[in-house]
Amino acid sequence: MKRQQALVKDHPFPKQYASEMLVISRGRGVWLQDPTGRKYIDFAGGIAVNALGYGRRDLARTAFRQMTRLSHVSNLFATEPALQLANRMLADSPFPFAAVFFANSGTEANEAALKYARLHSLRTKGTGKDRLLCFANAFHGRTMGALSCTPSAKYQGPFLPLVPGVSVAPYNDVAALEQTLTGEFAGVIVEVIQGEGGLAEMTPEFARALNTLCRKHGAVLIADEVQTGLSRTGEFYASRSVGLEPDIITLAKPLAGGLPLSAALIPAKINDLLNVGEHGTTFGGGPVTTAVALKVWDIISKPAFID
Ligand SMILES: Cc1ncc(COP(=O)(O)O)c(C=O)c1O
Repeated sequence: MKRQQALVKDHPFPKQYASEMLVISRGRGVWLQDPTGRKYIDFAGGIAVNALGYGRRDLARTAFRQMTRLSHVSNLFATEPALQLANRMLADSPFPFAAVFFANSGTEANEAALKYARLHSLRTKGTGKDRLLCFANAFHGRTMGALSCTPSAKYQGPFLPLVPGVSVAPYNDVAALEQTLTGEFAGVIVEVIQGEGGLAEMTPEFARALNTLCRKHGAVLIADEVQTGLSRTGEFYASRSVGLEPDIITLAKPLAGGLPLSAALIPAKINDLLNVGEHGTTFGGGPVTTAVALKVWDIISKPAFID
């Protein structure tokens, strides 16, 4: 059969997606296959998600077992896989995190982190010190808060006005950071390597300046490691390779081997300020995604795997 037959034109998805899409029906290892049987080597990885490849029976077995045992109870209850994963993430962390907030996408993890920064500032510095700082060419997601910290006319333009109180500084510019970052800021959100922004790497000098200035002004330093975390750059957390000392790290993408799961790792100084019900999500950290993520974590946290 011809390749044409695997293309769908009048699809029922919104027009924000390509008008013509290739239909993918199977995946194994690094290979994808369309319904005509044509094979493709996959260089997209589901936008940096399928770090361990397609068709993993170990992950599938885990998901099946957990789905039949307990599929979902919401965050009104704790489940064994979520407890195990969160404890493991905290135990393995080189940074002193105190709790893990689970959500469903990178955007939602960042949204939570930004909210935590605002809450922290309100409760430690008082009202009005609520500004958020992000950097030129950053990408942190598409909800109103995360989008407000994604300074791109293409992404922001059609949805104005956004969340107020966001400043944008040039990336890797220590002098500009020193000028901009004051006590008015609740938080700073930054990628260690700007992914969507064109693979710009944070310099160790910029990391040092971020550490020092955030500490000095009581601003929460958020490392968006949605794309760089989980061994993707050679270190488990890319923050480590440049000496960044974040208060919060956000993770997503490959965390649950292709299922939707994200996390914001938060410190005691924020966790201790939170009251019941102030933030939450119905699906975040469900037992199926966290059970699979535990398997993924086991594999990708092994030093031999990282090597
Ligand atoms: C650095 C970074 N942050 C956040 C996101 C948003 O993640 P999601 O698409 O899972 O909401 C992305 C997605 O590409 C990203 O690269």
